[in-house]
Amino acid sequence: MEKHTAATIAFDEEREARFQRTLRAYPEKGAALLPALWLAQEQFGSLSDDVLAYVASRLECAPVKAFAVAEFYTMYKRERVGRFHLQLCRNLTCSLMGSEKLRAFIENAVGIQPGGRTPDGLFSLELVECLGSCGTAPVLRVNDTYFENITIERMKAILENCRKGTLPDPESL
Ligand code: FES
Repeated sequence: MEKHTAATIAFDEEREARFQRTLRAYPEKGAALLPALWLAQEQFGSLSDDVLAYVASRLECAPVKAFAVAEFYTMYKRERVGRFHLQLCRNLTCSLMGSEKLRAFIENAVGIQPGGRTPDGLFSLELVECLGSCGTAPVLRVNDTYFENITIERMKAILENCRKGTLPDPESL
């Protein structure tokens, strides 16, 4: 993903069209902040200060408002994440069902700690709070895909697939 500076930040053609559609769905520009931030993150990979300032300017709102929202919601990333962003639930049920062992396995397998990103940009790891799927703990979310009832064997298969460039279908593991 190319590096963007304040002067070069702009939605590409596809995101601009989606941004315009989004604006039409809200009574005022500022109300479209969350979806606009999501679009920006999708394009730029993270929400740097410059990206937040760009989104705020497009919505004619104060940059601090965009900053506050981006800092509050964990779905928004202030730092660049890997192509495969591993989000391991660390909450009670998942902990009881073995997420700490999975954490150690992942750290060892990809060589990063929570908050880290591999030098090749392939993986990043984040420990998250309850993913809302406690009945199928332990749970890992990779990008937007949930993997449930994770075992070390299934974790190995996920990482192997990711290394080949594809996220496996959870049903296929
Ligand atoms: S505790 Fe992990 S999904 Fe709820």
